[in-house]
Amino acid sequence: MSTVEIIELSKSYGPTVALTPTNFKVEEGEFFSLLGPSGCGKTTTLRMIAGFVAPSNGIIKIGGTDVTFLPPEQRGIGIVFQNYAIFPHMNVFDNIAFGLQMRKVDKPEIARKVTAALEQVGLVGYEARFQREMSGGEQQRVALARVLVTEPGILLLDEPLSALDKKLREEMKYWIKGLQSELGITTIYVTHDQGEALTMSDRIAVMSDGRVAQIGIPNEIYEKPIDRFVTEFIGESNILDVSVTAVEDGISRVTLGEQSAAARSLPGLSAGDKAALVLRPEQVLLAGEAEAASGDDVVRLQGTVLDHTYQGAFVRYRVDVGGQTLIAEIANRADRNVIPGGSQVPLAWRATGAGLLAE
Ligand SMILES: Nc1ncnc2c1ncn2[C@@H]1O[C@H](COP(=O)(O)OP(=O)(O)O)[C@@H](O)[C@H]1O
Ligand SMILES: [Mg+2]
Repeated sequence: MSTVEIIELSKSYGPTVALTPTNFKVEEGEFFSLLGPSGCGKTTTLRMIAGFVAPSNGIIKIGGTDVTFLPPEQRGIGIVFQNYAIFPHMNVFDNIAFGLQMRKVDKPEIARKVTAALEQVGLVGYEARFQREMSGGEQQRVALARVLVTEPGILLLDEPLSALDKKLREEMKYWIKGLQSELGITTIYVTHDQGEALTMSDRIAVMSDGRVAQIGIPNEIYEKPIDRFVTEFIGESNILDVSVTAVEDGISRVTLGEQSAAARSLPGLSAGDKAALVLRPEQVLLAGEAEAASGDDVVRLQGTVLDHTYQGAFVRYRVDVGGQTLIAEIANRADRNVIPGGSQVPLAWRATGAGLLAE
């Protein structure tokens, strides 16, 4: 079973704490991402799992076996780095065959395995090419083939797309995800790009400052961020100061300035507490659509449009609500007229579409 578990794993470099004691378990066949800003400890965590960095404390288990003190080559892992390490002086075949030659695999077996790896990454026919004759995306696929040819139980990827341009990155993320599901290989993917993590992952660990802030499926991370850091790091959010007036099962009532509003309850909050209301810009309805919204959980307020910016797929409004500015993103459709600045507008959201954070 190719699971990966870290138990109270930590790392300091002298006075620098790269990872505080951290726990998680990656399940067999799972695509698990470590997502966070630069310097939060992602690479250190991955390199400890790979065996290239010795932990300060804690345990690493692969397939239930303690591998904390095993060298990298005995861990059954394959790792792909940001700067795809393919040898410029070797052609594609030799690059992919390299790891097998080192293990003294016999020639016909090498040829068979290299061909299979090239099939996996869609590069049959590229055997004789050199690095300079390939695009960045193709080079990265060769780097992946080099790792897959050794048939690792665990695939570790450290920002593998960050050297590619935007369009190629978009393509490659679907391609890598597709390949991973097809192979069913347990994968840990490091990225600072929330779009990559949300698109590709079964679960995401959001990291900040050497700790895991939240682990969840993409939808939970996006819809129910656990704290201010995750809220601000993932997507865009309105974070509005409110006072809690009533805590009910599921939904809490709050006041926002002079107006009343509501959001999903947060355990531990009680009436009288100050809190932050978290609302994604795409959850906000304006004008006629706010008036037309129906259902028990619709929250209705009044605001004043400050201005708008055209963003192509949507129009981004800034709306003053009792002295606080709310961002609303309204999908751009032919049947919607732009609401001019200065307009008083009804606005609405669903209480279940907003959350609370303790202050
Ligand atoms: N070899 C090292 N020596 C000293 N400090 C390091 C070393 N590697 C990483 N660090 C520090 O550890 C922290 C986490 O780094 P890293 O794991 O590379 O973060 P990330 O991959 O999330 O950008 C950073 O503060 C970084 O400067
Ligand atoms: Mg890194």
